[in-house]
Amino acid sequence: METPIKYPGNLTLRVVLTCIMAASGGLIFGYDHGVSGGVTSMDSFLKQFFPSVYEKESNMKPSSNKYCKFNSQILTLFTSSLYLSALVAGLGASSITRMLGRRATMIIGGICFVGGALLNGFAVSIWMLIVGRLLLGFGIGCANQSVPIYVSEMAPYKYRGALNMCFQLSITIGIFVANLFNYYFSKILNGQGWRLSLGLGAVPAFFFVIGSFCLPDSPSSLVERGHHEEAKRELVKIRGTTEVDAEFRDILAASEASQNVKHPWRTLMDRKYRPQLVFAICIPFFQQFTGLNVITFYAPILFRTIGFGSRASLMSAVIIGSFKPVSTLVSILVVDKFGRRTLFLEGGAQMLICQIIMTVAIAVTFGTNGNPGTLPKWYAIVVVGVICVYVSGFAWSWGPLAWLVPSEIFPLEIRPAAQSITVGVNMISTFFIAQFFTSMLCHMKFGLFIFFGCFVVIMTTFIYKLLPETKGIPLEEMSMVWQKHPIWGKFLESDITTQNDKINGKC
Ligand code: BGC
Repeated sequence: METPIKYPGNLTLRVVLTCIMAASGGLIFGYDHGVSGGVTSMDSFLKQFFPSVYEKESNMKPSSNKYCKFNSQILTLFTSSLYLSALVAGLGASSITRMLGRRATMIIGGICFVGGALLNGFAVSIWMLIVGRLLLGFGIGCANQSVPIYVSEMAPYKYRGALNMCFQLSITIGIFVANLFNYYFSKILNGQGWRLSLGLGAVPAFFFVIGSFCLPDSPSSLVERGHHEEAKRELVKIRGTTEVDAEFRDILAASEASQNVKHPWRTLMDRKYRPQLVFAICIPFFQQFTGLNVITFYAPILFRTIGFGSRASLMSAVIIGSFKPVSTLVSILVVDKFGRRTLFLEGGAQMLICQIIMTVAIAVTFGTNGNPGTLPKWYAIVVVGVICVYVSGFAWSWGPLAWLVPSEIFPLEIRPAAQSITVGVNMISTFFIAQFFTSMLCHMKFGLFIFFGCFVVIMTTFIYKLLPETKGIPLEEMSMVWQKHPIWGKFLESDITTQNDKINGKC
């Protein structure tokens, strides 16, 4: 088997700035993602838009079971509607990304972000809230479709993992900032502080639009659209060396193969791309079924349900939120050294242990009717502490890797289409969790964490058995990893044999 080619090239300032700028798209995603949970736990917001939930939550009309007091499908629609439009936009964005380039998609996404945040900040009725969230979702669909591909294409292959993860790092910073703002804004402006929480999302969105206008397009995308000279000039600039011939030749070859593919969606269904397709679907699905977003969206609601006060709930969300960026940073530092598999497996084990401890702690204290009397002190410490460890496990494994791995395993000809699938599956799974969490909590009670724990066991086994290591392999050489893999190798070999048999039969 050939060994992968090593292209010369340095980590130039141009690459770093470009990737930081592009990854800041993640900041807006994270902010919009993290802001809604805190806002929906604020009394003034509930009173204005969801009075029936407010009555139940403030014990004016007490619910018989504490696990059920936030169970309202309209309330969760405020959080979840964003993911429906992100799903639609993510699918449409693949054509824009292919025809107009990665940059154009980012600009369109940024404009939607600005519009959505402003509409939410000035909302006076539910329709403004929902339309605003839908616009934000369009922005997220565009950004999540284009940014990871863009960063993977700009980065020198040796640093691809770390640079790509800046996207995830900025998602986690966005979530953390949203948690912090919710905590501070919950008590100002006569209860209208939620307007600042929602509206301030427009600020990074504005910078993202300006920044995207200034970015160069990636060499792969320029070649794909016929601008060969410009692509080569850009490659020289981003690699900081004139010795780019080998890499440029491979980009040209990949682009030629891509031009021959007139129907990327149909091509993606070819049997030879089956391994990539399996990961494009399973990785984002499993990422959401770690259960992490239950914490991201609803930590304040979850904490209030399990006995914390309102400010304590928002504060606990801030503490937990701070663990994500730090752990993602750890991941950035080690991903190109230890590899993707090690992080996936360790993160899975860590999350599972925490889920078991959490289930036991809540079950012992609350039982099934959710009425604990007075809460023991150990309980708050154990719950918040264990959730922090759980969140760290996610933040250095499934969080960043679920974006990194799909963005690096597809050949150019199907990359935008496959990335759209990844974004689409991520969004629909996120929608599911966002929409049904409160009713799942109401019905499954503390068993909810065991439900997610079972998925963690399945996904960890899946990675162990099926994911080949992609660390340090140039994108253009990636097809080799499947051929070398004990299971996928056999699968692809049988495919080649069948094709040869067919050809020989015909002859
Ligand atoms: C996921 C989000 C999640 C975030 C938290 C992202 O990779 O797609 O759903 O909330 O990580 O860190």
